[in-house]
Amino acid sequence: MVDLLAKITSLCKRRGLVFPNSEIYGGIQGFYDYGPLGVEMKNNLKRLWWQEMTRRHANVVGIDGDIITHPRVWEASGHVTSFTDPLRECKQCHKRFRADEVAAKCPECGGALTAAKQFNILVETSLGVVEGEKRTAYLRGEACQNIYLNYQNVLDTMHLKLPFGIVQIGKAFRNEITPKQFLFRLREFEQWDLQWFAHPKEMDQWYEFWKQARMAWYQALISQPKKIRFRQHAKNELAHYAQKAFDIEYQTPFGWKEWEGIHWRADWDLSRHGQFSGRDLAYTDQETGERFLPHIVETSGGIDRTFLYLLFDAYRDQDKRVWLQLDPRVAPYQVAVFPLLANKPALISQAKALYDVLKIKYHVAWDDIGNIGKRYRRQDEVGTPWCVTVDFDTLKDKTVTVRDRDTMKQIRLSLDKLQDYFENELG
Ligand code: GAP
Repeated sequence: MVDLLAKITSLCKRRGLVFPNSEIYGGIQGFYDYGPLGVEMKNNLKRLWWQEMTRRHANVVGIDGDIITHPRVWEASGHVTSFTDPLRECKQCHKRFRADEVAAKCPECGGALTAAKQFNILVETSLGVVEGEKRTAYLRGEACQNIYLNYQNVLDTMHLKLPFGIVQIGKAFRNEITPKQFLFRLREFEQWDLQWFAHPKEMDQWYEFWKQARMAWYQALISQPKKIRFRQHAKNELAHYAQKAFDIEYQTPFGWKEWEGIHWRADWDLSRHGQFSGRDLAYTDQETGERFLPHIVETSGGIDRTFLYLLFDAYRDQDKRVWLQLDPRVAPYQVAVFPLLANKPALISQAKALYDVLKIKYHVAWDDIGNIGKRYRRQDEVGTPWCVTVDFDTLKDKTVTVRDRDTMKQIRLSLDKLQDYFENELG
């Protein structure tokens, strides 16, 4: 099953989903660019998550913060000292590995390895216009820091009461020792985060609430829910900011791997930013007058990992047919429209008219190249749930053929029933 990763990597390149970054220069490890269909699917995912978090849950608002913040942020957050992975280097070929991923010898050349040392994975940059006086800054190692920095701004402007949440979707950067497995471990990636601020006494209840809510959301997104589970972090693997953590994990072809972390961050973030900035970040309960630092439950997931795991979940390969059984809400295209023949103006204009109507609501593919069988195969490979063919009967009776991606069954529907049909299927 490990070759599923190779099949998906190749399909992504072939069909315009994901390309290796800087490919004409030989690529760069840990970086990938999303292509025309990949960006559609990624945007669909982000929209679904945003709607779920901000519309379905009361008292949750969003922000969009910068990638670079004041460098002191990363001292306060603990990342400058503690955002490390254990590294071992081969004494012979000098390749470097994560200590938790190698045995006694170098996996490349069999050489002896150094003892493990801690390697900081924050990505540095420098700011300033005078050479020699530039200041070190960091590309954010976790997107959520902007939420703590804006906690008081949000509170003051949105008149929120505890408990409340702030969400954000954004890039994070880590100088990973061994970026690998395509989109699984990247050096530049995107996270979707919720920080839920609550009274310390209510933390148990909220931690459990968000743990279950996030699991239910991922389960509804995939077709094989048995491939998803919780795993609690042992004390010695907790991140420096967490008092308790559960990962939502997915069973990838290379083992059970993290998908989203549910972290009990307590008052770590607000107390540290309070200390380092000199600002009092305490919250006053207007009814009781009690003043305290809210505690935080964090749910933090990777969008690139979601993208990859959904492809693992959706990939089907049978009798030389390859298709992606993606949720129609996630698929890059919802519908494809084909004129049966590309050289018949009456068919083209009828199909174009249909395309123009459907494109208002859906992302619609237009394909008039090659025979219908080939067009079905192309759409199957990118997970388009329905292909609609306009043929000579359409000109007479205003009906079209709708072909289902998963069953390959074809039905005949009248043009005025099409939208209802898709709406119904899309739920
Ligand atoms: N703010 C908490 C935080 O960043 P994390 O567990 O380090 O927690 C959250 O990261 C999620 O981000 C992970 O569950 C994973 O999905 C994703 N992620 C982390 N490192 C990644 C990497 N190098 N490449 C791709 N995704 C990554």
